Amino acid sequence: MTRDIVMAARPKARIVLIGTGGTIAGHGASSINTSAYDCSVLRIDDILADLPVAASIADIRTEQLFQFGSENFGNAQLLQLGKRISSLLKRDNVDGIVVTHGTDTIDETAYFLHLTLKSTKPVVVVGAMRPPSALSSDGPLNLYHAIVVAASQVAHSKGTLVVANDEIHTARDVVKTNTFKQDAFRSPYGPLGFIVEGKPIFYRLPARRHTTESEWSIDEIDEVPEVGIIYAHGGMNDAMVRAMLDSGVKAVIYAATGNGNVATSIVDSLVDARLRGIHVVRGSRTGGGVVIRNAAQPDDRYDWLVTDDQVPHKARILMMLALTGENCARKLQNAFLNY
Ligand code: SIN
Repeated sequence: MTRDIVMAARPKARIVLIGTGGTIAGHGASSINTSAYDCSVLRIDDILADLPVAASIADIRTEQLFQFGSENFGNAQLLQLGKRISSLLKRDNVDGIVVTHGTDTIDETAYFLHLTLKSTKPVVVVGAMRPPSALSSDGPLNLYHAIVVAASQVAHSKGTLVVANDEIHTARDVVKTNTFKQDAFRSPYGPLGFIVEGKPIFYRLPARRHTTESEWSIDEIDEVPEVGIIYAHGGMNDAMVRAMLDSGVKAVIYAATGNGNVATSIVDSLVDARLRGIHVVRGSRTGGGVVIRNAAQPDDRYDWLVTDDQVPHKARILMMLALTGENCARKLQNAFLNY
C-alpha cells in the first residue's frame, strides 16, 4: 500500500514592485560601460520582463512612481513614496513591497521608510551599481534577491531592508561607501543576513526602534522641516555656517571632524544658532564610531545635540522626523539614542 502525502502548495506572495529610476534602470552605450551610462531610462515593466525567473516566487504587480536619479529625492518625493507604500501595505492582497532605487541615496530613503511605515510586512529597497546593459551587472540578481526577501515570511517585522550584493542590510545601518564597486554597501555592525541560493538567512535583528515601534507614521506627516548639513574641514569658514543658518533650516547637522570636534572659528555661530531657535547636532564625517555628549564640546551648556553613531546624511532624516512632533532639545536627543 502506498501512502500519498499531499502537500498544500503555499500560495505565491503578492508583491508590488515600485520603480523610481537609478542605475538599476540605466543603459550604457556598450557592455563595458560599467560606470558611465544613462541612468533612469528603463521602465520598471521592462526591468521585470528581463527577469522571468521572478514569476516563480511571487505574483508581481508594477508601479512606476518616479524615473530619476536618486539625488533628486527631496522631502516631497520621500513623503509621496512613503504614503504610496503605506496605502499598499494596508491591502490584504499585498504581502510585500520592493522599491527599485538609485543607490546614491538608497540609504536615506530606506531609513525614512524604516522610521515611518506602520507595517510588519517586508519592504525592500534595491538598486544596482552597474546598469543591466553592463558586463556582470548586479541589477538582475539584486532585484531577484529583493523579491525573494520581500516574499519571505522570515523577513517580517524587521523594518525596511536594503538588499545588495547577496546581503540583507537594515535601513538603519546601511551606507553607500564606494562610487563604483559592487560591494559598495556596508553596515558598521555587519549585514542582518544573506541570500544564499535564493533563500534569505538572517543572523541578527535591528536593535533600535522602527516601523510599528516608531513614534512617526507616514499617514500623519504631510510636511517635514528643512534640516541642513555642514561638512567640516580644517579651518572652517564662519561665513558658510552663517549662510546655512540664514537659509531657513530648523536644524543643522554638523558633520564634524573626528569625534565631533568643532573649530573655534565657528563655535560662536553655532551657539548663536541655538539662540535663534535652530538646533545644532554634532555628528562626525568619519563614517564610524560614536559622538559622545559633552565630550568634545559642552553640549549641555550650548543646548546642542549629538548624532550618537548615525552618519550625517541619515541623521538629517531622523532629525527631520523628530522635529515634526517635538522641539525640546532633550527629547530630540532621545531620538538619536532610541532609533
Ligand atoms: C542614482 O543614485 O540614481 C544613480 C547611481 C546609482 O543608482 O547607482
